Amino acid sequence: TDQLADAVTAFANGNPILAYDSADRENEVDIIYPAATVEPQDVTRLRNDAGGLICVALSDTVATALELPFARDTLDHPVAASEELKYDDRSAASITVNHRDTFTGITDQDRSVTINRLGALAADPTTEAFVEEFRSPGHVQLLRAAPNLLADRRGHTEFAIALTAKANRAPVAVVCEMLDDETGGALSPAAAKRYAASEELVYVDMSER
Ligand code: 5RP
Ligand code: CA
Ligand code: ZN
Repeated sequence: TDQLADAVTAFANGNPILAYDSADRENEVDIIYPAATVEPQDVTRLRNDAGGLICVALSDTVATALELPFARDTLDHPVAASEELKYDDRSAASITVNHRDTFTGITDQDRSVTINRLGALAADPTTEAFVEEFRSPGHVQLLRAAPNLLADRRGHTEFAIALTAKANRAPVAVVCEMLDDETGGALSPAAAKRYAASEELVYVDMSER
């Protein structure tokens, strides 16, 4: 069966999927969920089975409505003067946030609140509602998707938001890189495929798209 069609179905049902970018980019597999239905046990999975940085990707439309800047434009420090990524033209990183209903912001309970309320905010995204509900800095990294998604940039950020559109979900998704507990490096695509099979999750190779 078609990987992408299966991923759309999984997303429509609020289930996570695995996505590998390509050998000539990050060479990483992310676990990705639609944000609005994320619960504490989903953050537990991201932390234990993925292990990378837990980030929330938002569409360009929602990010613009919330006036979300790129991190490089907010850091008034020479360290942000030149990004020079090794795998892409630019990062999707915006600011970090916590929902105001959280305590420290880092627990699975707290991060799930931050993530699912970002998903809910997409229904009527305004800067006023965003400021009323969230604070920064926080413990969830936001990512701004490129306007034309994969046509502009081949990141997990853009793939995640493209998937929300196909699955008729709010254009907000949580992404986290899978790391290998043995080597400390990125989890290999082969090992990620074994994890997908054992957990009955859909695995998508973005480079075949
Ligand atoms: C945030 C990252 C991850 O790689 C994540 O997948 C989003 O980035 P990108 O859109 O560049 O793939 O850098 O931890
Ligand atoms: Ca782990
Ligand atoms: Zn990535």
